[in-house]
Amino acid sequence: MTEANEHADQAGTLRSISDRISDNSKMNAGSNKAARVLSVTSGKGGVGKTAVVSNIAVSLGKMGKKVLIIDADLGLLVDGPQGIKILPAGSGVQQFTHLDASHKIRFLDDLENLPGDYDVVLIDTEAGISENVTYFNQAAQDILVVTTPEPTAITDAYALMKLLSSQYHEKRFNLIVNSVRHGDEALDVYRKLTMVSNRYLDISIDFLGGIPFDRKMYESVRQQKVMVEMYPANKVSQAFTKLAANLVADTVQNQPKGSLQFFWKRLLSLGNGA
Ligand SMILES: Nc1ncnc2c1ncn2[C@@H]1O[C@H](COP(=O)(O)OP(=O)(O)OP(=O)(O)O)[C@@H](O)[C@H]1O
Ligand SMILES: [Mg+2]
Repeated sequence: MTEANEHADQAGTLRSISDRISDNSKMNAGSNKAARVLSVTSGKGGVGKTAVVSNIAVSLGKMGKKVLIIDADLGLLVDGPQGIKILPAGSGVQQFTHLDASHKIRFLDDLENLPGDYDVVLIDTEAGISENVTYFNQAAQDILVVTTPEPTAITDAYALMKLLSSQYHEKRFNLIVNSVRHGDEALDVYRKLTMVSNRYLDISIDFLGGIPFDRKMYESVRQQKVMVEMYPANKVSQAFTKLAANLVADTVQNQPKGSLQFFWKRLLSLGNGA
């Protein structure tokens, strides 16, 4: 197949996928309810994205919200407590930009089997600035940047926001500071980042909250459970619960931009290089 043919073929496939999304009654179910799509991302790896996604998801579930996690690299939640649904890695999301037509269709079939009435969709991205990361961050309504107080993590968070703002016109970010060891550390990190970004970048950063460092986190990963389920009363769990509550409160203030269908469509059109 020539390159031009291949492009035409791809465009045709994506169009039919888009049409199927529009026509699909299951995905239309609950379309009056707009899902909030949040990507959880970081410059540096290992700063706690998956911990944030899984704990926020369970906290939101406990608040009665319907939650979908996309491509969490956690095996632990496949059956999902609190009715959480997970679209795991391997179903094609992370590598979506590189899928051929038949795999894109298979991926869509996976989507069709999901109910459409989610309140919140959390995307657990890879770390860094790969094509897939920028792509998911663009498709999401809100970007949650996770960092730790470690200087390299802060620098990498800054670099990620710089790239997303300069190349992809993302101007609003939300900051979560994880593995905080003392009182004001999270706010200190926030202040540092806003000071530099106010000076050099045209972006706004909202502070979503800090999560304390806690060794029990390793234990929860080992036992394949999330902290808010295992130790609901401890400080980390309380911090996650508060963070989740902040997110929900925020939904009331800011009208969400669109439905879940809108998100899938946007994802597909971005995947087509549009
Ligand atoms: N608040 C915390 N206190 C102590 N340990 C933590 C905390 N948050 C995360 N961890 C630990 O740090 C490690 C990395 O966390 P996690 O896997 O969530 O990071 P990640 O950003 O998803 O990593 P990756 O970039 O590899 O996907 C895990 O072992 C986790 O248990
Ligand atoms: Mg992870």
